[in-house]
Amino acid sequence: MLISSDIELRRAVPQDAPALADAVVRNREFMKTWEPYRSEEYYTARGQAERIAEPGGATWLLFDRAAGGRVVGRAALSGIHLGPLCSANLGYWVDADYRGRGLVPAAVEEICRAARDELGLHRVEAGTLTDNEASQRVLAKCGFVRIGLAPKFLHINGDWRDHVLFQRILHDNPPAYGRS
Ligand SMILES: CC(C)(COP(=O)(O)OP(=O)(O)OC[C@H]1O[C@@H](n2cnc3c(N)ncnc32)[C@H](O)[C@@H]1OP(=O)(O)O)[C@@H](O)C(=O)NCCC(=O)NCCS
Repeated sequence: MLISSDIELRRAVPQDAPALADAVVRNREFMKTWEPYRSEEYYTARGQAERIAEPGGATWLLFDRAAGGRVVGRAALSGIHLGPLCSANLGYWVDADYRGRGLVPAAVEEICRAARDELGLHRVEAGTLTDNEASQRVLAKCGFVRIGLAPKFLHINGDWRDHVLFQRILHDNPPAYGRS
């Protein structure tokens, strides 16, 4: 789907791995502050293909049609659980040159819709570094509410870092038992 005049959002397929690898290489320095240490394999098409295919996950990519369809962002659900939890974790980034255009909030809205209507989830959780105000703005715009502070929650850029946790409840229907 188009989320702005030139930017398309769609689920990733393994064939997207080379373009995604190109995007993570381009944004390697920019993303350092927000990410765990990555292996060199992460920056290759093979590494990205493995991530797209990871079980318990669903990946969406942003493509700039005006720039030859190059990948300019990624948003993904991981740790998808059905049963009584019906929940997943949300992560995202956008190319440094594409910040401030509302692209990630638009992607997150669509992913929450898919999480509810296609994956049958009840809840999506996201965590940000305590000082990641841009990411907290994204979550606020998308109706996520703060649920707490998790000390030393994730190993980011070389340290166990505190995170603010947020969630968005997608619906209140009972879980579809038998699908887990
Ligand atoms: C956080 C991030 C995903 C926001 O995506 P986005 O598509 O730029 O989102 P928005 O356009 O809604 O902007 C969100 C906030 O970013 C800030 N922002 C806007 N333009 C910016 C720019 N050029 N540079 C840096 N921050 C900017 C503003 O605070 C904005 O909030 P506002 O709209 O209330 O002013 C993006 O900055 C990013 O990829 N950051 C690095 C990775 C990251 O932090 N991922 C999340 C980990 S929890």
